[in-house]
Amino acid sequence: MRSIRIILWVLVVVAAAAMAYLYIYDNKATQVSGGKLGGEFNLVRQDGKPVTDKDLLGKPHAIFFGFTNCPEVCPTTLYEMSTWLDELGEDANDINVYFITVDPERDTVEMLAEYLTSFDARITGITGNKKDIEQTLRSYRVYFKRVELEDGDYSMDHTATIYLLDAKGEFTGSISYGEDGKSAVAKLRKLLKS
Ligand code: NI
Repeated sequence: MRSIRIILWVLVVVAAAAMAYLYIYDNKATQVSGGKLGGEFNLVRQDGKPVTDKDLLGKPHAIFFGFTNCPEVCPTTLYEMSTWLDELGEDANDINVYFITVDPERDTVEMLAEYLTSFDARITGITGNKKDIEQTLRSYRVYFKRVELEDGDYSMDHTATIYLLDAKGEFTGSISYGEDGKSAVAKLRKLLKS
């Protein structure tokens, strides 16, 4: 009787700790508001050239995180971003748009290059080794998690929000997944003036 009570108490404590952890972790992933995001990094672009955190500065930039095997969110977002850039026309040349992979093991330079040919050429893909990518994702407070699939393959859960940062790397706003195109373009125009 006593041991059952102890086991129940242990379960309650473990469940409470897990919920607290998830709550904090989830908030960390989604509560991005103001301030400088990102840290130092040395990664590689889809054309094989190196890219560092310094390269992102100097121009307002929009960053999106995902992976090329993504069934829906990533292709949809990249497609929509392409239409928004198209609408902005030459003005869009003053925004740097980056797609940073959350799946560096599969998203090699070649894979990213091939994948991005389907979208606006102004979208730059970024990959690198697993450790460096994970460190970068954490510095942007991005949520990412590998999910094992039944067929032995895997998928990645990830933040679907597009981050908008000014030329100094300060977070100025975001575009949500599925956001109305008019609203998204207005935010990009505003970003151009930041
Ligand atoms: Ni995705």
